[in-house]
Amino acid sequence: MKLALLPGDGIGPEIVAQARKVLQRLGLKLEMREAAVGGAGYDAAEDPLPPATLSLAKEADAILFGAVGGPRYDALPRAKRPEQALLRLRKELGLFANLRPAQVHPQLAAASALKAELVAGLDILIVRELTGDIYFGEPRGIRAAGDGGREGFDTMRYSEAEVRRIARVAFEAARKRGKRVCSVDKANVLETSQLWREVMIQESKKYVDVELSHMYVDNCAMQLVRNPRQFDVIVTGNLFGDILSDEASMLTGSIGMLPSAALDASGKGLYEPIHGAAPDIAGKGVANPLASILSAAMMLRYSLGQEQAADRIEAAVKKVLSEGLRTADIHTPGTRKVGTGEMGDAVAAAL
Ligand code: IPM
Ligand code: MG
Repeated sequence: MKLALLPGDGIGPEIVAQARKVLQRLGLKLEMREAAVGGAGYDAAEDPLPPATLSLAKEADAILFGAVGGPRYDALPRAKRPEQALLRLRKELGLFANLRPAQVHPQLAAASALKAELVAGLDILIVRELTGDIYFGEPRGIRAAGDGGREGFDTMRYSEAEVRRIARVAFEAARKRGKRVCSVDKANVLETSQLWREVMIQESKKYVDVELSHMYVDNCAMQLVRNPRQFDVIVTGNLFGDILSDEASMLTGSIGMLPSAALDASGKGLYEPIHGAAPDIAGKGVANPLASILSAAMMLRYSLGQEQAADRIEAAVKKVLSEGLRTADIHTPGTRKVGTGEMGDAVAAAL
């Protein structure tokens, strides 16, 4: 199995190193190759996604991605900015289905920003469409406006086919879980959302065993903090999913815990933590590597057919948390604070 490891910037290299350590302990035949991406790609080749990195990603069976971005790169023109690497990888590899689970580990309920009794047992799957919407819609730009000043504009768009294929991913996923899908849109205002909702309803007819409901995105943002356990699978577009998945992550105690998968039509995928490069703590050895380690577990499950190895990693993470080990972001009184490397070592040992 060929893996592309793209550590990227900030805490990316530190956390991917821990995931690599854990993967190596599994005793599987994994060929792991690394390449520069994001700001690191820009530094190496003046391109956030150097051609060599893109071809490595295309040839691999799966991609483990760290994080990209940092203040050093904020002033670059858009095409050279680190985030473009991620957006281009998603688009060029057709990774349209983003799975972002938000689960509360019982040991971490106290670390949540919400009362423990509101989040205990929480298990939501956000299915975010990842290659369409206002992220990629044309035209977009900044141009002269009629009033003598400038105006910025972007295009929100979804084709029926794009909505249909993400609907299927959500319904299929719901079948394996609580059998409920909540489609989130802004159909009271946006044409794009009106079409989105129509197609969701059409597609739901093929999944009579799954219950479909609809919610406006503003209400969903509120319901997520009011009563998050009402949700099973949430399916939504690229922009709303970006925002709601960050919000949902905090229900679990820390954004540093959440893995994600971005899958193409055949199951090949890019796996990455939901969190970003966190430049403020980069290089200090304090970042939480668990989202990256859990991303590696998702990779084994969804792209490499190694269900058992995935289970082993997830069980190892649970064990380490039960033993009271915590990185700074999830540290609460009575638990033991450890650094990035120590957490990675503990998970590898628990395997
Ligand atoms: C995410 C990130 C990206 C996004 C950025 C880094 C382009 O926020 O994966 O959620 O907006 O999709
Ligand atoms: Mg985001």
